[in-house]
Amino acid sequence: MNGSWTILFSHPDDFTPVCTTEFCEIARCADEFRKRGVKVIGLSINDVDSHQSWIEDIRDIAGHEVTFPIVADPDRKIATLYDMLDALDPTNVDALGKPFTVRDVFVIDPNKLIRLKLSYPASTGRNFTEILRVIDSLQLVDRHPVTTPVNWEPGQNVIIHPSVTDEQAGEQFPGYTKVRPYLRYTHDPRS
Ligand code: BEZ
Repeated sequence: MNGSWTILFSHPDDFTPVCTTEFCEIARCADEFRKRGVKVIGLSINDVDSHQSWIEDIRDIAGHEVTFPIVADPDRKIATLYDMLDALDPTNVDALGKPFTVRDVFVIDPNKLIRLKLSYPASTGRNFTEILRVIDSLQLVDRHPVTTPVNWEPGQNVIIHPSVTDEQAGEQFPGYTKVRPYLRYTHDPRS
């Protein structure tokens, strides 16, 4: 969406168990997405009526409102364009044998660049804490010449980008730690 971070995610089918747990979690995390300026959009091949009755169930189960739009794509137009249809799992199909969508996630930045693509099988619910962590990392590296190491969490040390010379690093990140010429740590610039 114009000027904001966006998560576009697909799910296989309304009124299915794993999808329901995912929607309950996304509805629960609404404040976390809002804090980061992220707009969320879901998509499946179900129609609008199905989405509307399913979100009533989610409200009952989770105690949270689904406040984000869910695209109804019954003719699979968008799912086909974004390559979201399940090409692997013969059980992830509708009554006519046509594929449902997989669990894709696209993180799109305010300049409309896709910065992350994830594709999970129908059988495995996604980890939205991880998706928030990636957004924290992307928003940090857009503002500072750093990258984030394995298992990084906000507030932990970050890596100085290889394009930064040692001299620049000394000015921008005084007291940084040089483990190797190519591996230099500094504190999270936001903490
Ligand atoms: C589920 O959400 O539980 C699900 C959906 C489609 C296929 C398998 C599982």
